[in-house]
Amino acid sequence: MKVIRTIAELRQEISLKRQSIQSRESVVGLVPTMGFLHEGHASLMHAAKQKSDIVVLSIFVNPIQFGPNEDFDSYPRDEARDVETARAKGVDIVFIPSVEEMYPQPTQTTVSVSRLTDRLCGASRPGHFDGVTTVVSKLFNIVQPQRAFFGMKDAQQVAVIQQMVNDLNMAVEIVPCPIVRESDGLALSSRNVYLSAEQRQEALVLSKALRVAQEAVDAGTALTAADIRGILRQNIERSPMAMIDYAEIQAFPSLEPLADQEKVHGRDDLLIALAVKFGKTRLIDNIRLQKSEVLSHV
Ligand code: PAJ
Repeated sequence: MKVIRTIAELRQEISLKRQSIQSRESVVGLVPTMGFLHEGHASLMHAAKQKSDIVVLSIFVNPIQFGPNEDFDSYPRDEARDVETARAKGVDIVFIPSVEEMYPQPTQTTVSVSRLTDRLCGASRPGHFDGVTTVVSKLFNIVQPQRAFFGMKDAQQVAVIQQMVNDLNMAVEIVPCPIVRESDGLALSSRNVYLSAEQRQEALVLSKALRVAQEAVDAGTALTAADIRGILRQNIERSPMAMIDYAEIQAFPSLEPLADQEKVHGRDDLLIALAVKFGKTRLIDNIRLQKSEVLSHV
């Protein structure tokens, strides 16, 4: 496995690897991350390994997707451990550029997706998705992957990147991968290390709320978007530490919000998404609502 820090070297290495495979069809799979790798990232590397000939993992804490009062400086980093994880997962190339390598001068070009980024995380984190789509476009241009792997943990990010790819005719297939959770339900996140033991315990209200909402749909006790919103708030508010940023139900991938009285049963395009703060730590989680067998034909 090669660890590469410059764009020029990365391009050269990918082209060499492509030549050595001697197939014009060889698939380069890209897994973009900000490092401090966990099993969620590992699942993307695993999917990439299965669906690509050459796997490139990028590790870059992208300053332009953090707001001025966010955690760019304190974002957890452990390069040595990440490189070992990547090696163990069979990654071919790890790309770890510096901020200067990625942004040698102040950026004058921004890739910006409009409507989809107005809501949810986009509303609470102004400019965040511009930072994401700009860096992901740069990574796509640098690596030129045929496939790129993203976690549904960040469902809005998947929707936004797919929209960008469609709108700008980028020749890359976006592969969404399922959320990986701890055994007690907490979705893995690099930011979980910020949680105190007590916050870590209370953070279980996120996955619990999602589960209760799904069960209520299955049981026919939640029929409308308002019912779902009520269940989410009620379950999250069981934790006195939890500060709800949003607890929403919308169509996926359009992210069109459902009106309160809209029915939820019989639909298989719905996403319930949560963002909840515990102290300074903001956690997100979501679930694709399964079409209820019981009610789908009502
Ligand atoms: P980061 O938060 O490091 O996440 C990298 C990728 O891992 C994303 O696609 C994310 O959805 C996925 N991921 C994180 N936790 C996961 C989990 N529990 N289960 C499954 N997948 C999970 O997302 C970013 O970095 C950045 O915005 C990036 C796309 C790299 C652009 O800077």
